[in-house]
Amino acid sequence: MSEKIFIFDTTLRDGEQSPGASMNMQEKFRLAQQLVLLNVDVIEAGFPIASVGDFECVRKIADNIKGAQVAGLARCSKKDIDRAWEALKNGENPRIHTFLATSEIHMRHKLKMDRAQVLALAIDSVKYAAQFTSNVEFSAEDASRSDMDFVCQVFEAVIKAGATTLNFPDTTGYALPDEFGAKIAYLIENIPNIHKAVLSVHCHNDLGLAVANSLAAISNGARQVECTINGLGERAGNTAMEELVMTIRTRADQLTVHTDVVTEHIHPSSRLVSTITGMPVQPNKAIVGANAFAHESGIHQDGVLKERTTYEIMNPSDIGLTKGNLVLGKHSGRHALKDRTEVMGYSLSNEELARVFTRFKNLADVRKEIFDEDVEAIIMDEIIHIPEVYELISLGVMSGSMKLPTAAVRLKIEGVEKEGAAIGVGPIDATYQAIAKLTGTSSKLLFFSVSSITGGTDAQGDVLVRIEDNGRVVIGYGLDPDIITAAGKAYLNGLNRLVYLQKEAEKK
Ligand code: KIV
Ligand code: ZN
Repeated sequence: MSEKIFIFDTTLRDGEQSPGASMNMQEKFRLAQQLVLLNVDVIEAGFPIASVGDFECVRKIADNIKGAQVAGLARCSKKDIDRAWEALKNGENPRIHTFLATSEIHMRHKLKMDRAQVLALAIDSVKYAAQFTSNVEFSAEDASRSDMDFVCQVFEAVIKAGATTLNFPDTTGYALPDEFGAKIAYLIENIPNIHKAVLSVHCHNDLGLAVANSLAAISNGARQVECTINGLGERAGNTAMEELVMTIRTRADQLTVHTDVVTEHIHPSSRLVSTITGMPVQPNKAIVGANAFAHESGIHQDGVLKERTTYEIMNPSDIGLTKGNLVLGKHSGRHALKDRTEVMGYSLSNEELARVFTRFKNLADVRKEIFDEDVEAIIMDEIIHIPEVYELISLGVMSGSMKLPTAAVRLKIEGVEKEGAAIGVGPIDATYQAIAKLTGTSSKLLFFSVSSITGGTDAQGDVLVRIEDNGRVVIGYGLDPDIITAAGKAYLNGLNRLVYLQKEAEKK
């Protein structure tokens, strides 16, 4: 039997450090549930001391998630570790993940500490954390640029102090695969008690080498990899989980290791992350990009039709891709929809299914055929459902080459119907002006994009907006066969999100 690689997912922590990728509690919890379906080994749920919101998210995930270890990040300080433990303590198998930099550059300029002080603090902090749990991870921040003998000294000492996982991060994404692999081999050769702990790596993607470096580390003995869905993370991101896991699966002949990830959940998980964060995946991204399994040239198409493996090294269904399937029609019932969503890799609560079913029926009234992509878009829209303070009742626009674009909007605002109209540069601008007047929002529109879910003029329009109010940036989604309506819904969804976050902040 091949050896197992433990998958430590840090989408909720390092992934959230990606500029513009912040998630609220409801979204983080939804993602944690998805990570359980993926069957990752560890979910790093956040950095509890960073904010009250982060603390509450880690606590909620630790309290409720079963089937994966939940980790919380803490600097090497008693206050951080206390806070992390407070958030984690009711978890099934909680892990305290504490870190301290070991490179000369970090020690001198950032920590203003010498080696002896760093060593002593690392030992004390791990000992302190180990009083709470036997599941303690220690990370040597900027390890790949650190003196290797010093890292060996620190790792040997923190194992004695109670660390059970030792993480060797390439914090700045500076390493090269051969060099990084050699450093892992060096650790294994030079730390006498290394067999008492799991050796982990955490690679950043500044030079586009995070996955390659993680694989080199595995080949040299690392047995945990820290990664994120879609490679989200600080700056250029972290090791992309889907790329790592599918490489291990596809090239098991060479790598002779395995993960326990249920790969069929990869595609839905990737969609969920991009929907929640508003960060779309580039079309040519390996594994989860829209073109990852698209064959454009005639020669390739012909080859795949004759024998799929001529140009495909993975089966799209291995990542849960069910593209292009005709789902159901107008007469399909709730059970048929439930079955289909399960085949597509989604696990919906009864309440979510009910909402998705209503939307599905509405769409089926205007469209004869509904595809997996349509259902998936509705699921995404409903899964991250935000309470609606502003609800769209109706929207009418007048536009054309000879007309001044005008929009008339009727909203229900906290139960009261209000109507307003505005003119604009185009019909979407007019709609947004009317909504802004009715809601009195002072928010700024930062980004607007529209795409279609499937091909054809009857496709659903999918609108994504990013809006900002008082330093808070949120995304909004709108889905409708009418793109102006989809645009209006996206704006309202963003405004509802702002209200929701404001209310959540006031509760604290
Ligand atoms: O990049 C890094 O070094 C980190 C540590 C906290 C593990 O994110
Ligand atoms: Zn990191």
